[in-house]
Amino acid sequence: MVFLQRLYLSFLLLHTQLLMHLESASASCNPGEKCISLANCTPLLPFLNPHIMTPAERAVFEGRQCGFDSTGQELVNRVQICCPEMGHILPNNSICGPIIPTFRIIGGYEAEPNELPWMALILYAQSSSSVSNERLVSKCAGSLITNRYVLTAAHCLKIREWDLRRVRLGEHNILSNPDCFSNINGVKQCAPRHLEIDVDLRIEHEQYMVIMQRHYNDIALLRLKFPVRFTDEIKPICVQHGYMLSKPSFSNHKLEIAGWGLSHKEGYSNVLLRAQVDGRNTDECSLSDPYLGFDKETQICAGVRGGNDTCKGDSGGPLMALGNGYFIYLAGITSYGYSECGSGPAAYTRTSKFIKWIQWKMYTTRMK
Ligand SMILES: *[C@@H]1O[C@H](CO)[C@@H](O)[C@H](O)[C@H]1NC(C)=O
Ligand SMILES: *[C@@H]1O[C@H](CO)[C@@H](O)[C@H](O)[C@H]1NC(C)=O
Repeated sequence: MVFLQRLYLSFLLLHTQLLMHLESASASCNPGEKCISLANCTPLLPFLNPHIMTPAERAVFEGRQCGFDSTGQELVNRVQICCPEMGHILPNNSICGPIIPTFRIIGGYEAEPNELPWMALILYAQSSSSVSNERLVSKCAGSLITNRYVLTAAHCLKIREWDLRRVRLGEHNILSNPDCFSNINGVKQCAPRHLEIDVDLRIEHEQYMVIMQRHYNDIALLRLKFPVRFTDEIKPICVQHGYMLSKPSFSNHKLEIAGWGLSHKEGYSNVLLRAQVDGRNTDECSLSDPYLGFDKETQICAGVRGGNDTCKGDSGGPLMALGNGYFIYLAGITSYGYSECGSGPAAYTRTSKFIKWIQWKMYTTRMK
């Protein structure tokens, strides 16, 4: 980095107290983070601009300081922070897809708060509304896959009269912030407040197409304006080769869906719901439900008539599978189904078919 720029940053750091308790800080870093000087932390340095950072941007740096090297020249060299991986790196299952042990039993299909910490709620503004008085509304879901990218369906980028603006992470109940609940001893506990981050890049698959209301190559990446830090409430889901390619059909596989979408009885749900669906043999689905126009190469068929199903509003959310019994990975992306939800199986974009695309797109857009 240029000397003058370093000096400038140091000056700003000092005067904005962005990093508090400079000399004494000793946070321990999370898995996947390294304690290095701020000046060498390429994934975060571009976002350091103490002058004009929003509270959310400042929060990216808070609590990260892990040391102080008094031999360094400028302040940015002396301050050491827990530096994350670059945002395009897919984490391995020591970080992604944790299975959270659950202690409470909830009736119905409500998920435990933050038990699926990769769930992203995608927020939209009405295209016609003026920036000053726009109200954000959720219309799709997605899955966090790295500290900077959310995977969703391409059709979530094309909702007529609505512009995709932000992603909300660490959410459970849409109506409350923070989300509080009673633990098994009846003691009230609250999760941290959810995080809302602007989307600064929307990457739609080049071959995304709609043929008679069926969606093909229905996949898209959203790049967050800055990288998030993984916490108990915010963690990525695994997206990995081997496990998925070995189960090309997922037939008779127990899979899970989740979302805040339209549930049968109550309309849109305020709390995150999860449910089990059976993976189906795609050839069979093509025969039994030709209307859905399955493509077995790029789609997964899951669900049965009268069973659990994804619905309006769940689009872009995850179809989850258990890998080796101890982590959760993204088998598919909720794409489309019968207009009357639950009246047959549904089509999910087969993530394994698009791993190269995902990696390439993240790699080529990784810089700020
Ligand atoms: C998984 O990723 C972590 C963090 O990046 C790394 O420390 C660890 O060595 C990796 N494990 C394997 C088995 O690759
Ligand atoms: C629907 O989901 C629930 C909760 O995961 C599960 O107990 C039930 O077996 C599922 N029903 C079907 C038909 O798969």
